[in-house]
Amino acid sequence: MSEVKHLISPLDMSTDEIASLLKLAGDIKKDPKKYSKVCDGMKLATLFYEPSTRTRLSFETAMINLGGNVIGFSDAANSSVAKGETIADTIRVINYFADIIAMRHPKEGAAYVAAQNSNIPVINAGDGGHQHPTQTLTDLNTIFSEKGTLSGLRIAFCGDLKFGRTVHSLIEALVRYPRNSFILVSPPELRVPDYIREDVLKANGCKFTELTKLEDAIPDADILYMTRVQKERFFSEEEYIRMKDFYILNKEKMALASPEMLVLHPLPRVNEIAVEVDEDPRAVYFKQVQYGVYARMALIMTLLGLSL
Ligand code: CP
Repeated sequence: MSEVKHLISPLDMSTDEIASLLKLAGDIKKDPKKYSKVCDGMKLATLFYEPSTRTRLSFETAMINLGGNVIGFSDAANSSVAKGETIADTIRVINYFADIIAMRHPKEGAAYVAAQNSNIPVINAGDGGHQHPTQTLTDLNTIFSEKGTLSGLRIAFCGDLKFGRTVHSLIEALVRYPRNSFILVSPPELRVPDYIREDVLKANGCKFTELTKLEDAIPDADILYMTRVQKERFFSEEEYIRMKDFYILNKEKMALASPEMLVLHPLPRVNEIAVEVDEDPRAVYFKQVQYGVYARMALIMTLLGLSL
């Protein structure tokens, strides 16, 4: 089992491995047809215990683009989980059906448990408020393709930095590149967890500031990474309603940004980016979705040890 490569955290890949993956993603983008038979006869299982539009369909598109097939479920209530089957048993069974698994689960650590019980690669497609490493590969691919570098950037994260797993994963990935600095914009109640501040940012000697006002962050940012308030992780509806419209990026705020600043968002958005911003050439959050397909194609090939 130890030989099998999984992706549970962004740190499961070294920066060299990420560089190779981004190069492959770039090659795929240039000539996708060349890769259209690489996974001929292979199957991806998408096991989604939590709602998703982009991640699941992006994985399925990626596998189909590589010439493979897809099985799986998008609602655990229609699987034997509803009868009480454990993750470990489900994964052992799927090992007989598929070559690779992408799994999303509301519990932190669920993908790790899956990997421990699998002879085929397991990809964490999001585990609770913990990690979302393939969103990170999507984000890195977007930043690298649009900016030409992953170093020396000032990255502002705005919104729900407490529960936003995409934020945690992307910060963990970006601290490994030199001279990156971070501006963390959130209401006091939704600041990044202590482990991100202490064990990730401070431990890696990264410059960072924590702010409450988005207007104070925008003029200094090369990248603005907006996030929605994660309704599903709140314990009280009242608290969510109080927080949900704390930040709204609009044309007026975009006027404070440099002409080169890029706006990313893992999506779905709720209210945090006004629709009027979509037409701004600096808004790349829909383009980001396409970069995600190329990144996932490259990841599937990498974990399965496939090349042209
Ligand atoms: N970005 C993202 O994870 O979107 P979905 O929840 O739609 O998969």
